[in-house]
Amino acid sequence: MAIVSIPPDALRDEITRDSRSAEQHREWCLRLEAGDILYFPESPLKIPAEDVAFLLGQHQTTSVFHKNIAYRPEKDLLTGFDAGSVPPHAVKRLHSIMRAYSNAATEVLRDILAPYQARWELDYASFRPVEEQGRDQTLHRRNDLLHTDAFPTRPTHGARILRLFNNIHPTRTRDWITSDPFGTIVGSITPQQIPLPHSKKICARTLCSLGQALGLSRALPSIKRSPYDEFMLRFHNFLKENSIYQASCSKIHTQFLPGSSWMLYSDTVPHAVLAGQFALEQTFLVSPEAQLDPSSSPVAILERMTGTRLR
Ligand code: SIN
Ligand code: FE
Repeated sequence: MAIVSIPPDALRDEITRDSRSAEQHREWCLRLEAGDILYFPESPLKIPAEDVAFLLGQHQTTSVFHKNIAYRPEKDLLTGFDAGSVPPHAVKRLHSIMRAYSNAATEVLRDILAPYQARWELDYASFRPVEEQGRDQTLHRRNDLLHTDAFPTRPTHGARILRLFNNIHPTRTRDWITSDPFGTIVGSITPQQIPLPHSKKICARTLCSLGQALGLSRALPSIKRSPYDEFMLRFHNFLKENSIYQASCSKIHTQFLPGSSWMLYSDTVPHAVLAGQFALEQTFLVSPEAQLDPSSSPVAILERMTGTRLR
């Protein structure tokens, strides 16, 4: 994998989208799909200075916002804070900042990743005010260990998890490590380490009988994960639990500058955050059909490996 740095000149406002070659846009999509990170040392996403000032004012110790805050664009809903202890005016302000960020992020992606023609579902955005260095989290929630993203409560059924980050800290970098993508490492994992996914029928049957044995048959169907989603969740856990992998895999250390943006397919690029505070992030669930190289998507890789349809 590589960090592909895109200088601000490549995106200057006065250069319209049409004058940038369609080839360039395809190249950016293909780099992402191959497991590279697109890095913009100067963010193409303009966040108003007064919005950044408000967000930076939310210091961990004194702030009413202690955790990562989620914004759900589809429902225009802000979550992740204790409504009883946050003054309504602060909630209102943060809500409107997150709405604007989400819209601006979508505009930037429509432009930079034009070949996708916005064939994505707009997922959650987040504000991350917490210092990442030394965060105390349970193993599976730790983000300082290399992992690929898989959402336990939001199965994607094969859609790709594309994430855009902004480091809004005025002076400090956000420090990441990344490693070789899913397609490169999944082949070396044995079924003893993680069982390969089964076809939907077998999986549903196994789950059903397991549920019945546990007396859970009515409680189980609430989250409908495909065999693909089950595997991706196991893969996320497997990487975090695997200290040999964590110690010995090849690593790229990157310090994302204050004011920069970067994007990646975080379902296939193992990543970890070691330090940094104050980031904004928007997630897009990109349709597998929109991929320029559908054969490189994790669902296609797994379907080739198992010879079965997994969603
Ligand atoms: C993650 O997705 O693992 C966290 C990355 C970050 O907040 O920088
Ligand atoms: Fe992650």
